[in-house]
Parts: sequence; structure tokens; C-alpha cells
Amino acid sequence: MGTKKLLPTSISTMTIFLCMFTHINAEEAFPFVDGTYPSEAEGPTAESSDMDELELNPGPPPRVVDVDDYRERADDDDHTEAFLQAWKEACNSSDYPSVLLVPEGKTYLLMPVSFNGPCRATTITATIRGTLEAPSNRSVWLDRDLQEWITFDNIDHLRVVGGGTINGNGHEWWINSCKTNQSMQCVSAGNLQALYFRRCNHLVVEGLQIIDSMQMHVVIAYSWRVLVSRLLIAAPGWSPNTDGIHVSNSREVLISGCIISTGDDCISIVTGSMFVRATGIFCGPGHGISIGSLGANKSWAHVSDVLVEKATLVGTTNGVRIKTWQGGDGYAERITFQDISMHNVTNPVIIDQNYCDSKTPCHEQGSAVAINNIRYRNIRGTSSSKIAINFVCSNSVHCDGIVMQDVSLVGEGTYVSCSYMNARVVELGYNFPYCRAEM
Ligand SMILES: *[C@@H]1O[C@H](CO)[C@@H](O)[C@H](O)[C@H]1NC(C)=O
Ligand SMILES: *[C@@H]1O[C@H](CO)[C@@H](O)[C@H](O)[C@H]1NC(C)=O
Ligand SMILES: *[C@@H]1O[C@H](CO)[C@@H](O)[C@H](O)[C@H]1NC(C)=O
Ligand SMILES: *[C@@H]1O[C@H](CO)[C@@H](O)[C@H](O)[C@H]1NC(C)=O
Ligand SMILES: *[C@@H]1O[C@H](CO)[C@@H](O)[C@H](O)[C@H]1NC(C)=O
Repeated sequence: MGTKKLLPTSISTMTIFLCMFTHINAEEAFPFVDGTYPSEAEGPTAESSDMDELELNPGPPPRVVDVDDYRERADDDDHTEAFLQAWKEACNSSDYPSVLLVPEGKTYLLMPVSFNGPCRATTITATIRGTLEAPSNRSVWLDRDLQEWITFDNIDHLRVVGGGTINGNGHEWWINSCKTNQSMQCVSAGNLQALYFRRCNHLVVEGLQIIDSMQMHVVIAYSWRVLVSRLLIAAPGWSPNTDGIHVSNSREVLISGCIISTGDDCISIVTGSMFVRATGIFCGPGHGISIGSLGANKSWAHVSDVLVEKATLVGTTNGVRIKTWQGGDGYAERITFQDISMHNVTNPVIIDQNYCDSKTPCHEQGSAVAINNIRYRNIRGTSSSKIAINFVCSNSVHCDGIVMQDVSLVGEGTYVSCSYMNARVVELGYNFPYCRAEM
């Protein structure tokens, strides 16, 4: 930051990260970590000295760029070009903060579009008050082999806020998926993403409704210092692959106060992600909160230092899950799930090292993504299946250092048990069902 003015955005983001890493007991938040950062990352301690130098002078008012001022004709039904022109202006017209305004009470149709940096503006706030809508015609993507709808790429200090709605109009995708209709061809290997943030450092995404995505709703990739908060994410429980928030290759990500109801994972955290915290999450329907899947196609994967806390899961197929494919390599470690309430969840606590989301069966392999130092603490509620706790670990690489502390799960009218293979489990406090420590 140096002598540059610190802007209100960075102050709030920074405060959150300071809270995240210093006000909570680092030992508790990230067990097995002594609270220090890897030396290559500039941790909050590196920035905390800047706090003393804060200039609270608000500076010049931000430049406000209204997308409506860039519409050629009021009756145009495709607004993509207007948004791109407005973005150019907000991004590069000055060295000051700028605001890209999407006015309230209107609906804007956007084709697949990418808002790119780097920008001259010190911060950009995209204030979305109205509704952004995607075309329902799938050929818009299929013909061009595209994977994203709205992309923000390589932008520092971006905030996307405003209380508006982002509607992916995904119905055509869901009914034509090979997962909902066996006679359909599976079209793409990757997942389509409604709102895609790539290489955005110091990013805030806050207070929006994101609904009916074709597939994934919000994706955070290759980004650092990210706050995702107060999002309402919704798609039908039967819609395939509609993950809520997907984090990949990103560090220091805080997801807070989100309500997520979709047809796939509410939150999924995949390879390259470190220091991720999710707090105050409501999830259901959906597939729960997942680390993974990791290690598909014999890939190397690494996820570490994840804290999932204060979550409520209702009627989901999984509660808190770690899933890895056979044949992969790498590790998932120092992951804590705590203060979680489950209501009628099918697999409340699950580690699946034999994950196989493929039409053809997965054969036994000689390697696996290692799973170490996983802590479950104060997890309570009900299971709709008999196996409330299920650790399916690999024959080749056993799960190590699983700690259960005050985990109490009962059946919806049935007696529940813990099932485990190839796992070393340590029990602390009062746990039910009980998993006997073994290897
Ligand atoms: C803004 O300016 C930078 C540097 O000149 C350039 O790389 C970038 O493409 C510009 N962005 C837009 C949206 O015009
Ligand atoms: C979708 O777009 C394709 C080509 O862009 C067009 O041929 C087709 O008629 C459109 N379908 C619908 C339902 O509008
Ligand atoms: C599945 O797709 C086929 C066309 O490929 C269609 O005829 C059929 O009605 C679809 N089934 C359902 C349940 O939507
Ligand atoms: C694995 O690779 C195959 C062939 O390249 C591809 O079809 C499949 O989608 C990949 N699976 C995953 C989960 O990436
Ligand atoms: C619990 O979940 C099961 C299956 O997920 C469902 O069939 C059942 O109706 C649910 N029970 C309640 C009380 O919601």
C-alpha cells in the first residue's frame, strides 16, 4: 500500500481478514498451523503496519458510469455492447475509484461477456441494482465452445454489490443434461459458470441474488483475498451441476452469510485453494459443503487450511464432505468443520476417497490424494440414512488424523452408526455415533 491512500473498500476487506486471522484463535481456526503464513504470502501481519498510516480522507468522489448512458437505442434487447463500453470507461477513464452502475428496476440481456483488467481506476465498484439475464438458447455457448457467461478477469480491488439479480436462465441446460435425461449426450467436460472471477485480488462480491445458473453459480479462481458475502443463490434441487460457490486455486477466501439452495454442492473447494473460511452458511437443498472433488484423471491436487463453521444444512444429500478420485495424487489437509447443524441430511459426515462421478465404473488404483488432519467439532442434528458418519478411505493411502469432538447425530426414526475403512480416528468429548479408533 505504501503511501497511497487506503480506500474504504480496502479498509473493510482488510478488517475482515484481520478478524479472520488474528481475532480468532489461529490454533482453533486452523489446527496444526501456528497462525503464521507461508513465507511467500504477504499475510495480514505484513499489512497491519499500514493500518497506522491510514488516511481517512475520502478523496475525490468516484466517477459513476451508468450503463444506460451507453445504450444506442432504448429498445435494444441485447445490452452486451453497452456494458462493454461502460466497463471501458469505468476501468480506464481515471486513476480514481469508479462505479459501474446498473440501474434498478430494469432487466438487461447479456451475451457471454468478459470484463477485463488491468484497470487504471484504483477501485471499481460494479453496483448491480437491476437484473442481468442470460440468453436461454444454449447454442450461444455450444457453438462457440464457451464455458462462462459473465467473467471478471485480472482486476484488482473490484467490488460487485448492489442488491440486484443475476439470472442464468438455465432451464434449457438442466433438461438437456445427460444427468437428468439418460438419452441425452453429455456435452462438455468442464462446467459452465454464470459468474466467473479469475485473477481478481482484493475482491468483494456482496449482497446479490444469483439464480438459475446453467451450471455453477459463482466461481472464484486464481484469486487472492476475496470476500463473498450475503449472497442468495437459488436453483431447483433437481438442476444438475449447479454448484453454489466454487473456489479453485485461490487463497484467503472468506465466504460469509450466504443462503444457498441448488442441485449440486452449496460450496465446493477444489485444488490450489488455501486459507478458505466459510461461516454462516445455510445450505439446502443441495449436495452439501464439499472439499473436492480432487485428483480426477490422475491429477495432482492440494487443498489446505479450510475452516467451515456455523453452517446449517437442511435435507441435503451430504453434510460436510471430502471427495477424491482414485488414482490422484497430492493432499487435503488441515480442514476443520465446526458448529454445524444438520437436519435430515443423508450423509452428514463423509470422506469418500473412492469418489466416482462417471458413467463408467472407476477401477481400483494404486494412488490417492492423501487426507490428513481433519477435525469435526460440535456437529449436531439428524441423519436420514443409517450411516451418519462414513469414512471410506483408500487402500493405498489411508486417512490420518481424523479428530471427532462433540459430534452428535441421530437418525430420523432409525438407529445410526459410524462406518470407516482405512482411517485413523481420534475421539474427544462426547460423540455419537462412536467410531472406534483403528487403522
Ligand atoms: C485499460 O488500460 C490497460 C493499460 O493500458 C489496458 O491493458 C487494458 O486493456 C484497458 N482496459 C480496458 C477495459 O480498456
Ligand atoms: C438458438 O440459436 C441458434 C443459432 O444461434 C438458432 O439456430 C436457433 O434457432 C436458436 N434457438 C432458439 C430456440 O431460439
Ligand atoms: C429425453 O430426451 C429425449 C430426446 O433426446 C426426449 O424425447 C424425452 O422426452 C426426454 N425425456 C424427458 C424425461 O425429458
Ligand atoms: C478425464 O479425462 C477424460 C478424457 O480426457 C474426460 O472426458 C473427462 O471429462 C475427464 N474427467 C474429469 C472429471 O475431468
Ligand atoms: C428426509 O429426507 C428424506 C430423503 O432425503 C426424505 O425422503 C424425507 O421425506 C425427509 N424427511 C423429512 C421429515 O423431511
